[in-house]
Amino acid sequence: MSVLFSEGRIGGVSIDNRVVVSPMCQYSAVDGAAQDWHLVHLGSLMMSGAGLVILEATAVEAVGRGTNGCRGLYDDAQEAAFARLVEALRKLSPAKIGLQLTHCGRKAATRTIPERWRGEPLPPEEGAWTPVAPSPIAYDEDWQVPEELDEAGILRIIDAFAESARRAARAGFDLLELHGAHGYLIHQFLSPITNRRTDRWGGSAGNRNRIAVEIVRAVRKA
Ligand SMILES: Cc1cc2nc3c(=O)[nH]c(=O)nc-3n(C[C@H](O)[C@H](O)[C@H](O)COP(=O)(O)O)c2cc1C
Repeated sequence: MSVLFSEGRIGGVSIDNRVVVSPMCQYSAVDGAAQDWHLVHLGSLMMSGAGLVILEATAVEAVGRGTNGCRGLYDDAQEAAFARLVEALRKLSPAKIGLQLTHCGRKAATRTIPERWRGEPLPPEEGAWTPVAPSPIAYDEDWQVPEELDEAGILRIIDAFAESARRAARAGFDLLELHGAHGYLIHQFLSPITNRRTDRWGGSAGNRNRIAVEIVRAVRKA
């Protein structure tokens, strides 16, 4: 039998096979909370035979959402909606259920055009907000210039990851994935192109990595 179909393990979680459904944004949440759409979409993936299904990128604070339809896990209503969803999904198959936590940083407050697989800044009439980032550098021409995070803002985001992790544990998830790629906030800190800070969160590789390390520490502790 192929190793693909043998039991796997991530940390303390055992998975029936090594087929994993990666997180896929659905842009269908209301105020960050799961809807019937998510149950239908994820229900079919639960029955696909995959050993692990990871739910879409979910913001740890409101300003970190990519767009209005993105999922969030920073209030009680969102937590309750996730708990109901996880409970319903568990009835469908033994697949493990993971959640991806994220913060979009300067790529927040966008409007996604799925058919063109790209985004553009959210216009003010659709409720645009000011994104935050390691440095005030816009993603592209015509995109919003993000607000530069101060020390308190960075610590707030690390805490927000931990708080969302606690909410995810209560909602019944088996594991978490932290989004450190695709040009989102953690990635923005890692890259010297988007991180021009001169404090302990920028400059050397060690300083640019610091937020990723601190987020992992805080989430593990939570
Ligand atoms: C509709 C859609 C939504 C996605 N949403 C996410 C996401 O929420 N988080 C993430 O890390 N990647 C996301 N991705 C990227 C996928 O996880 C994956 O990295 C990408 O599709 C490449 O893998 P593939 O060649 O197997 O499709 C998304 C991809 C698609 C097609």
